[in-house]
Amino acid sequence: MSDNPKIAIIGAGPSGITALKNLATNGFDVTCFEMNDQIGGNWVYKDKTGHSSVFKTTHIISSKKFSEYTDFPMPDDYPDYPSGAELLAYFNSYVNKFDLKQHIKFNTKVVKAIPLENKWKLFFEDSSEDFDYLIVANGHHWSPRIPTFEGEFSGELMHSHQFKNNEYFKDKSVLVVGGGNSACDIAVEVSRVAKKTSISMRRGYHFIPKFMMGIPSDAYYAKTLWIPQRIRLFFQKLALRFVQGNYENYGLQKPDHDILQSHATVNSELLYFIKHGKISPKKNISRFSGSDVEFIDGEKEDYDIVLFATGYKISFPFFSTSNIDYENNDIDLYNFCFHPKHSNLMFVGLLQPLGCIWPLSDLQSQQIVKYLRNEWNLPKDFEKAVRNQQNSMPYDFIDTPRHKLEVDYHAFSKHLQNEIN
Ligand SMILES: Cc1cc2nc3c(=O)[nH]c(=O)nc-3n(C[C@H](O)[C@H](O)[C@H](O)COP(=O)(O)OP(=O)(O)OC[C@H]3O[C@@H](n4cnc5c(N)ncnc54)[C@H](O)[C@@H]3O)c2cc1C
Ligand SMILES: NC(=O)c1ccc[n+]([C@@H]2O[C@H](COP(=O)([O-])OP(=O)(O)OC[C@H]3O[C@@H](n4cnc5c(N)ncnc54)[C@H](OP(=O)(O)O)[C@@H]3O)[C@@H](O)[C@H]2O)c1
Repeated sequence: MSDNPKIAIIGAGPSGITALKNLATNGFDVTCFEMNDQIGGNWVYKDKTGHSSVFKTTHIISSKKFSEYTDFPMPDDYPDYPSGAELLAYFNSYVNKFDLKQHIKFNTKVVKAIPLENKWKLFFEDSSEDFDYLIVANGHHWSPRIPTFEGEFSGELMHSHQFKNNEYFKDKSVLVVGGGNSACDIAVEVSRVAKKTSISMRRGYHFIPKFMMGIPSDAYYAKTLWIPQRIRLFFQKLALRFVQGNYENYGLQKPDHDILQSHATVNSELLYFIKHGKISPKKNISRFSGSDVEFIDGEKEDYDIVLFATGYKISFPFFSTSNIDYENNDIDLYNFCFHPKHSNLMFVGLLQPLGCIWPLSDLQSQQIVKYLRNEWNLPKDFEKAVRNQQNSMPYDFIDTPRHKLEVDYHAFSKHLQNEIN
């Protein structure tokens, strides 16, 4: 490997730009390939379905203080929970501040990545180039996960990836499927204009309001971290119960897991809209029959649209599936970043925090810089370290595909900082 290795980054979303910033400002020879004509990834709002997934009305679910790059605060006049447009402006000012555009090749899609001996060959639509290191930051919220159910639905089937705003849903009967942040945000937006809105969940959830004691819930939570976890969670649950009561009173299911054992659904409006009769909760779907949807409790209703807000698959279309495939295989990366077999392959942002993604992507990138400078080494027993990491998450997350990438923001951030410093 040369003294100044050539490094490629795939993607200029919030994760890719912080990988680029950390490498470029430390003097590395780095090029970032972005298939879009601008930076921002998911936060580039577009009316048409493409890579991007945010809605016109999306506001972030972690508060601004906990959603900043480590050395780049958000503007003082931003609200506690900035909008999608404000976040995109923030990402653009980060890129401008560190003069990163000179390193980004826009409108350049990586179609294939092949490992050579000590190198990666990247193929673009009409050329190819070799690099010493490859950093993958292509995001994991763009390839829809769509469940199948018995029977056929004669109405329209959609996925939340196609949801941009509520105009299309005016005067329609809509069933939204899922209990995550997309499902709850979309059900609320749709119910403002639809004839009928229902939400089908396959389990009960704890719904975290955006504010507790008048401050953002994540800021409130951070203030209680000194309390032993069991006691802290007991009081968090009690506080929720005090304000919300039993979820069964809303027609929802009782959660089958403890608070924070699933990726947090942060939503202050769903329960309110249910109690205003704008959204009706349903159990899981059992089958379709024409325009009817039958639920597992035997209830049956007809709909014009069923919208699956059932999450996303982990996808790397540029690798051959037998090569690297985390949709079907367990995560074998150290710190969700370093690959066990290819010492010149790293992933940034391939995690799902209880909290915000890109501050952790920033820390992962800082660790990559240390790794490239031989100032930090991979664990000697790599496999054991990965196993320990996966087995020692602070919360025993429920075993569904989306939780494969789940980490706790505070614990993981502390772990990375300890290793970096
Ligand atoms: C509605 C919605 C709301 C969300 N809200 C939050 C939130 O509040 N907090 C949070 O932390 N996360 C949230 N997310 C998750 C979101 O994915 C992250 O915020 C963030 O966008 C992740 O950044 P990333 O750079 O890892 O991936 P992305 O934003 O997906 O960026 C990946 C980039 O890679 C590019 N790319 C992909 N493949 C290629 C290729 N082959 N060649 C070249 N370029 C390529 C894409 O064009 C894109 O620019 C939300 C997601 C959705 C859908
Ligand atoms: N306002 C915001 O900032 C905002 C808005 C939207 C999304 N986001 C973020 O974007 C990311 C993706 O969120 P998401 O809500 O789109 O996806 P998600 O977090 O993966 O949630 C998917 C939901 O669908 C359910 N589900 C999956 N397969 C199912 C099936 N076969 N049948 C029935 N239900 C099924 C899941 O159930 P289980 O619980 O059983 O897994 C879960 O409730 C997350 O990081 C989220 O926080 C943020």
